Amino acid sequence: MSTNSLPGGTWSLGDLTVTRFGYGAMQLAGPWVMGPPADHDGALAVLREAVQLGITHIDTSDAYGPEVTNRLIREALHPYPEGLHIVTKVGANRDERGGWPPARDAESVRRGVHQNLLNLGLEVLDLVNLRLGNAEGPQPESVTEAFGTLAELQREGLIRHLGVSNATPEQVAEAQSIAPIVCVQNLYNLAFRQDDGLIDSLAEQGVAYVPFFPLGGFSPLQSAALSAVAARLEATPMSVALAWLLQRSPNILLIPGTSSVTHLRENVAGAGLQLGEDDLAELNKIGL
Ligand SMILES: NC(=O)c1ccc[n+]([C@@H]2O[C@H](COP(=O)([O-])OP(=O)(O)OC[C@H]3O[C@@H](n4cnc5c(N)ncnc54)[C@H](OP(=O)(O)O)[C@@H]3O)[C@@H](O)[C@H]2O)c1
Repeated sequence: MSTNSLPGGTWSLGDLTVTRFGYGAMQLAGPWVMGPPADHDGALAVLREAVQLGITHIDTSDAYGPEVTNRLIREALHPYPEGLHIVTKVGANRDERGGWPPARDAESVRRGVHQNLLNLGLEVLDLVNLRLGNAEGPQPESVTEAFGTLAELQREGLIRHLGVSNATPEQVAEAQSIAPIVCVQNLYNLAFRQDDGLIDSLAEQGVAYVPFFPLGGFSPLQSAALSAVAARLEATPMSVALAWLLQRSPNILLIPGTSSVTHLRENVAGAGLQLGEDDLAELNKIGL
């Protein structure tokens, strides 16, 4: 694996070095993240291409499928190459209608960690995020029981590092009062910038911020300003959106999702685009 050529360089999640350009595996499951992919071999090919390109950070969860994405990762990549880090989440299950009911009591958190270990074929998980809130976003709730359980599992040697996801700044602070975190994974992109303050405060603390839906998720980012900047730079709007995130703050790690090898290659190539002051000024108005 060559990590030198990827846009953005690397970042340290505790003692784990990852490429800032990572890969989010959620889109590999079936429609609405339920069931198997339509193209099983195509899904394996995307994962293998990610590693070939030098990506060393893959984001996943047993909630994807459920259990589909983790098993695909294992099938495609196990035994895992040296230096590849798989980041997973616990804290939500799936129901038969595709909902994401919370699973944050101590027993469910423990079960979730063991299930991830089994499905990924690992003895220790590199990084586990506690996924909070619901599909509408972060919600006020205490993280003490669930995050305290993750901290116990970390002390037991089953997890190297911890993070939180879909969290308010208050929940980030509450988690940090229990155990150190190395990342926060929240919804953020050019058009949705609620976490600007949180990103800056995490950057000061050396904690990574990992935006989910960097390309808009299920509804691709659309904006006249984004299209105009992309046209001027002869780039795609996706490339501009990813390049903007890399330039927004050094603690931002990318995990764009795709089920297509072509899109994966395009995204890696496009994220290295250099945005000038004028471009940034125009783009910065989108989410405000
Ligand atoms: N913590 C949480 O609660 C949470 C929630 C959601 C997601 N996540 C994580 O965040 C990751 C990223 O989110 P996401 O995958 O949902 O959304 P995303 O990265 O914002 O966008 C993915 C969508 O963009 C499309 N796409 C990607 N590259 C493209 C390109 N070059 N040209 C055209 N279309 C392109 C994909 O379609 P194709 O498949 O056709 O390329 C897919 O529909 C997920 O994979 C998951 O790991 C976490």
